[in-house]
Amino acid sequence: MRAPTMTAPVDAMECRTLQRETSGGIPLTRIASVFEAERESYVATHPRSLALAGRGIAGYYQGVPMHWMRDWSMPYPFVVDSARGALLIDVDGNQYSDFCLGDTGSMFGHSPPPVTEAIVRQAGRGLTYMLPTGDAIAVGRLLGEHFGLPHWQVATTATDANRFALRVARAVTGRPRILVFNGCYHGTVDETFVRLIDGHAVNRPGLLGQVADLTQFARVVEFNDVPGLAAELAHGDVACVIAEPVMTNSCMVLPAPGFHAELRRLTREAGTLLLIDETHTISTGPGGYTRAHGLEPDLFVLGKPVAGGVPASVWGFTDEVAQRLDAVRSHTPPGHSGMGTTLSANALSLAAMRATLEHVMTDEAYAHMESLAGRLEAGLQSVIGQYQLPWHALRVGARVEFICAPGPLRNGTDAEAAHAPALEQAMHLALLNRSCLIAPFHNMMLVSPATTIEQVDSLVDAFEGVAASLALSLDDWH
Ligand SMILES: Cc1ncc(COP(=O)(O)O)c(C=O)c1O
Repeated sequence: MRAPTMTAPVDAMECRTLQRETSGGIPLTRIASVFEAERESYVATHPRSLALAGRGIAGYYQGVPMHWMRDWSMPYPFVVDSARGALLIDVDGNQYSDFCLGDTGSMFGHSPPPVTEAIVRQAGRGLTYMLPTGDAIAVGRLLGEHFGLPHWQVATTATDANRFALRVARAVTGRPRILVFNGCYHGTVDETFVRLIDGHAVNRPGLLGQVADLTQFARVVEFNDVPGLAAELAHGDVACVIAEPVMTNSCMVLPAPGFHAELRRLTREAGTLLLIDETHTISTGPGGYTRAHGLEPDLFVLGKPVAGGVPASVWGFTDEVAQRLDAVRSHTPPGHSGMGTTLSANALSLAAMRATLEHVMTDEAYAHMESLAGRLEAGLQSVIGQYQLPWHALRVGARVEFICAPGPLRNGTDAEAAHAPALEQAMHLALLNRSCLIAPFHNMMLVSPATTIEQVDSLVDAFEGVAASLALSLDDWH
């Protein structure tokens, strides 16, 4: 089924087709008329953003500093004036309850006071020196305390951290391949850009400038597929399995009961290392999903919010990996390790990280996030039930998602099929017009320590309003 371009006029023949077609169980004709009304409302309330960015911002390719800023549901991006806590204000003075939170970079709220203070303190003392600081010394201890591993390195993005950790995995095992779960996203790490299509691994469609056959160095299996995992590991050439403990980057997929125990058992049996990427699932608690569920990764990655929104990431590993790495390095000729980037572990990011780990990622903060996220999930689920929609809502800690398809989803293929692009585009814009900003690209909402109960309730009300506008009457759903 082709999703219509919601901004383009629909001709009569297309209109007849659309009447029969649905997205997420809603007729496309209905979605198109809701989208059009929301588009008009958006344009009417965002005149300054239209003047500043509506025709593309001068100087930028495609009119934006980063191309994905064009991929939101709105007709043109609004220009941000400021944000604080869970409130974001645009240049037209519109205020939003922010549940996108920089899609996790600001998961602990915008400019948490301890982070702001640390940044201000460091700003007058130099920003980057390629040498450790007092904050770096404190962070070394804090990382171990939070995440339970003894050896750490600091990088700038989760992409970099994953890339470096995979390099170490290959170095210490001497094996060429990594194994990913179909539908995963771990940043722009080349070897993870593979997909299963009709049971065959292929380069992920859409990659620009990728000349290599990435499947030569990767294996792909479906999440929750234990026999498939065992079969791929049995080749004996997999250095590392890289996994999010819950798949969060398409529609959310929870691990089946016992899946993580089997994943660990099979990787150990195969002599394959296990990398747990907690960049999104850090929503679970101050030690991530790993601590909350007793996972035992060999390598651990966390990016995005670890320095409260200042670019930074960390990757850690066990004593055993460290010893094996020492052994490899003892007979590696001097030269470039292939890991680096000049601004990694700079003084500013370590000051912000220390403040985040010491004062922001606290048990109290997570208790608040967990409780309000539970309220949000229950509220969404209740609206879904009220309208008997073929949808579901779910949650991992402070990360909540509504999915416009029945659940539970078992794997990446299910998750891909569960997306309803036309419907989601209309819903995102309608929620935005009701002052609620959710993450683009999927239907994800984050609850921060600064989010209030009123904001959560207003999002549930907005969701109900959108459901009502999509349905002319309850009978229309069926
Ligand atoms: C699980 C996971 N790992 C890594 C990344 C990459 O993060 P970054 O874009 O900050 O490099 C992402 C980004 O969405 C992610 O979801």
